[in-house]
Amino acid sequence: MTLPEGTPESFGPITGPEEVVFEPVVEDAGPVVERFDELTRQRTKEIIAKYPQSRSALLPLLHLVQSVEGHVSQDGIRYCAEALELSTAEVSAVATFYTMYKRTPCGQHLVSVCTNTLCAALGGDDIYKRLSEKLGVGHEGTAGEPGATGSITLEHAECLAACDLAPVLQVNYEYFDNQTPESAEELVEALQRGEKPHPTRGAPLTDFRTVELELAGIFPDLETSVEGASAAPESLRGARLASERGWTAPAMPDSPPAFPALPEKN
Ligand code: FES
Repeated sequence: MTLPEGTPESFGPITGPEEVVFEPVVEDAGPVVERFDELTRQRTKEIIAKYPQSRSALLPLLHLVQSVEGHVSQDGIRYCAEALELSTAEVSAVATFYTMYKRTPCGQHLVSVCTNTLCAALGGDDIYKRLSEKLGVGHEGTAGEPGATGSITLEHAECLAACDLAPVLQVNYEYFDNQTPESAEELVEALQRGEKPHPTRGAPLTDFRTVELELAGIFPDLETSVEGASAAPESLRGARLASERGWTAPAMPDSPPAFPALPEKN
């Protein structure tokens, strides 16, 4: 295995997100803006109806908001709060906890470069640095007018669960495996030209807002959304070898092993 040249120190520090100012949500600001149109409201009802308790619909509803706005604005927080009869503080707490909810408007595409240990050691840091310099933005920065064709939001991400294919990056959460700084730069240039290169595996590339709609559980074109192989040969190699050699996991015991006695709580 050949490690990329240089040391992580020589790449310079990975910059943190630009400071986001959190405006207080005004509770009595009247009905939320009309960007949440009739179709969005209908979809909101469909999502809420899937859950025994409406508050359980908050995560998909925040994705629905992102599919409309390209991020979660203060209006988006109020929209969710009204729909689910939650306080805006409760919705804000969730929206600011998970990194998949963006607080500033995203580009047409979200490019996530894995800089966790394995990817970093195999070139992920180089890839992130190359793209950051090319796009002129740091973590969660957007090159181009947010939402416009070819605009790109860049982020570095922790393990993207594809370590056997490191270094990897994702565009709108679709995988591009075994990347190099050169291949990643070519990919970004294609995105900026308005092209949509096919991911290494998984569904065809769409855009950030379309994927957000799917994450909300709404698939206007389900057949296309699930098209393509979802597993790489590298990921299946262990299972294939086990099958060829007749290896199997030990059988489950007939009864569960006894747990040690716990001391009584006072
Ligand atoms: S370290 Fe990058 S996918 Fe796991």
